[in-house]
Amino acid sequence: MTNQYILDIIYLIASVTFVLGLKMLSNPQTARKGNLYAAFGMTLAILGTIFIYENPNGETFRTSVNLGLIFGGLAIGTTIGWMTAKKVKMTAMPELVSLFNGMGGACAALISLLEFHHNVGHTDRISIIMAGLIIGSVSFSGSMIAFMKLNGTLSKSIRLPNYNIINLILMIVTVGVAVFVVASGTDSSMWLYGTFALALMYGIFFVVPIGGADMPVVISLLNSFTGLAAAFGGFLYNNQVMLTGGILVGSAGTILTLAMCKAMNRPLFNVIFGAFGETAAAGAGASTKGSIKDITISDAAVLLNYSKKVIIVPGYGLAVAQAQHIIHELELILEERGVQVKYAIHPVAGRMPGHMNVLLAESNVDYGKLSEMEEINPEFASTDVVLVVGANDVVNPAAKNDPSSPIYGMPILDVEAAQHIIINKRSMNAGYAGIENQLFYDPKTSMLFGDAKDALTKLVNEIKTL
Ligand code: TAP
Repeated sequence: MTNQYILDIIYLIASVTFVLGLKMLSNPQTARKGNLYAAFGMTLAILGTIFIYENPNGETFRTSVNLGLIFGGLAIGTTIGWMTAKKVKMTAMPELVSLFNGMGGACAALISLLEFHHNVGHTDRISIIMAGLIIGSVSFSGSMIAFMKLNGTLSKSIRLPNYNIINLILMIVTVGVAVFVVASGTDSSMWLYGTFALALMYGIFFVVPIGGADMPVVISLLNSFTGLAAAFGGFLYNNQVMLTGGILVGSAGTILTLAMCKAMNRPLFNVIFGAFGETAAAGAGASTKGSIKDITISDAAVLLNYSKKVIIVPGYGLAVAQAQHIIHELELILEERGVQVKYAIHPVAGRMPGHMNVLLAESNVDYGKLSEMEEINPEFASTDVVLVVGANDVVNPAAKNDPSSPIYGMPILDVEAAQHIIINKRSMNAGYAGIENQLFYDPKTSMLFGDAKDALTKLVNEIKTL
């Protein structure tokens, strides 16, 4: 059996593990195992490439210097990745995902930069290289901006005047320069690095103006870009496993992007380019009126304890407070008392796709108790109490009735249809989109101020005494 034959089999096994892993990631019960399967396949593919690969002329790159560099790089990367992933707080996970995604884009761009001069004269290969360079660079710089927005280092939305036109021109110039490089057959480093710089700039300009509530779409779009850039690498090296991996990431990211657009009720075009001719910058929404009403722990406990049906709406604050275990305890104690309890999951609650599902799965909440927005919305009208824990934008009625609001048009959970609404948060501060929430002033709403873990612990203890 030739080395190439063995490598092909290794790549086939790795590709199968990627597909299986991806499939298993769709359910919290199998997700961990799916991740391990895919990681095993990736390790196999990397080791196979290092120890078995030969180019079509039978040459290998396995000199001691190269092997030293490869294993040195692997050791540094693995150590940094392992330590960061071990130490990262659950709430910082979305930033970390953005950072890792950006690294994937950077790798694809570096491959293009390195391979360019070896391939001058081969128009087909130079086209692939330039495509990988642009998409990888946009993904890298865009992900870095998303990373900074998610961890709060960068203001959520910075819009230059006519930003959409500037971005469109920048995109056309970047693609135009790349087309020139391919068509002219130039080997000039100036044009190569010029395209690289333009693409990096476009990535920054593309993500910087995107408003808070649209970030989920951008994050998944950048994810699909990284996959696409890796797939171009696979074409370039005629490497099937790189191609399969890239296509899987690219298509999964695209499906997620479309799902996020649907969840936000935003056409993808609008998220990327903004609305042409739109003169008003995203407003902070109409000013709110009315007074707020507090509720004590004991009153909240009584209200919940004597309800027939309670819907819990978790949001980002639940993750911040790490209150997933105590909320499960609350659910169990209420069910012991004969109360029907469900969780309403908004598709963009939290800071990453599936954030609430992952969080609640950690505390073994039964997956069947989690209902998606379309499924649960008709149920609020027949619900005695909705308990909103650390959620804000996803229950903000401005999305339905304030056309000046930046989240106008985004489908939300219709919690105001319930008999009583209890909102637990620490203050009157805004959520991610930075806008006020009229729901806090609704006569049916009572505010239960405090850190979610602390407030829910007190609530559970109080219910136990009833
Ligand atoms: P947010 O609108 O961000 O509101 C979270 C609320 O939790 C805040 O108002 C905060 O109020 C409260 N909070 C924070 N720490 C808390 C704690 N320890 N205990 C209790 N409450 C706490 O969250 P959401 O409703 O989940 O909406 C998600 C937002 O993030 C949307 O705008 C969405 O577009 C955006 N986003 C989502 C994603 C994805 S993919 N899911 C990615 C990027 C952005 P206090 O400070 O007063 O406590």
